[in-house]
Amino acid sequence: MIIDGKQAAANLRVALTSEVSAFQKSKGITPSLTVVLVGDDPASQVYVRNKAKQTVEVGMISNEIRLPANTSQTSLLSQLSLLNNDNSVHGILVQLPLPSHIDENVIIAAINPEKDVDGFHAMNSGRLFNGEAGALVPCTPQGCVILAKQHLGNDLSGKHAVVVGRSNIVGKPVALLLLQENCTVTIAHSRTKNIAEVCQQADILVAAVGKANFVQAEWVKKGATVIDVGINRIENSDTGKAKLVGDVDYDAVSQVCGAITPVPGGVGPMTIACLLKNTLEAAKLQS
Ligand code: GUN
Repeated sequence: MIIDGKQAAANLRVALTSEVSAFQKSKGITPSLTVVLVGDDPASQVYVRNKAKQTVEVGMISNEIRLPANTSQTSLLSQLSLLNNDNSVHGILVQLPLPSHIDENVIIAAINPEKDVDGFHAMNSGRLFNGEAGALVPCTPQGCVILAKQHLGNDLSGKHAVVVGRSNIVGKPVALLLLQENCTVTIAHSRTKNIAEVCQQADILVAAVGKANFVQAEWVKKGATVIDVGINRIENSDTGKAKLVGDVDYDAVSQVCGAITPVPGGVGPMTIACLLKNTLEAAKLQS
């Protein structure tokens, strides 16, 4: 079975549209998201355009700040300080990756945690770690859990979740969310021994390593739910054109698993939908 992330994201946006409208009626506030893009990375430009379009579609305000690739860290920090102090800005997202002369950690730490719709600030990751209320939770991990539940139902307790990848953006936070859902969680990564055997344990297998077609069919238990976070651009050997593939060998794995998210059209659309959800959440936290 294919888990349709595009449809799930569309459903979430419909729900958000009503919530945004109800929030506006009760508080007189329209949630607003400002995306900061430094430089002209083509993939980032596509993401930013999609974010802006969907933000407006659910009834929120979208602003974009485009800065040249040679923007200094100091000047980016001043820009963030203005946004932090602007009450009409509820969500701030600094598009990653940043040019190499800018320290991402310094930038993330400078965002007001209540406006940190990426959920990357230590205050938010700390709250997630502690299971505290009021955390803004990273978008892709939220999307992964929603898609897993769409196939398995709301109760994931006792399921063995194996997360392949340990990044701050996906691997670690998705592991914490699955733990909160009472899963037994294993985090596997590039130094894991017998990764095939570890993955074979998974009822829920989340692949977030950034390596095209990394997870093999022999690693997957029959009937497992496979969530593929990878977005890898590779050349199609037949046509010579670029195409997107996930971290999972889709054709082979879909023969053994119970359900799988496709690439594109799986986790990707959910990331943006969850960003909109976080923007509304941030506006509520600030109101
Ligand atoms: N670049 C690719 N994905 C993301 C994301 O989720 N947030 C930010 N800030 N940058 C990204």
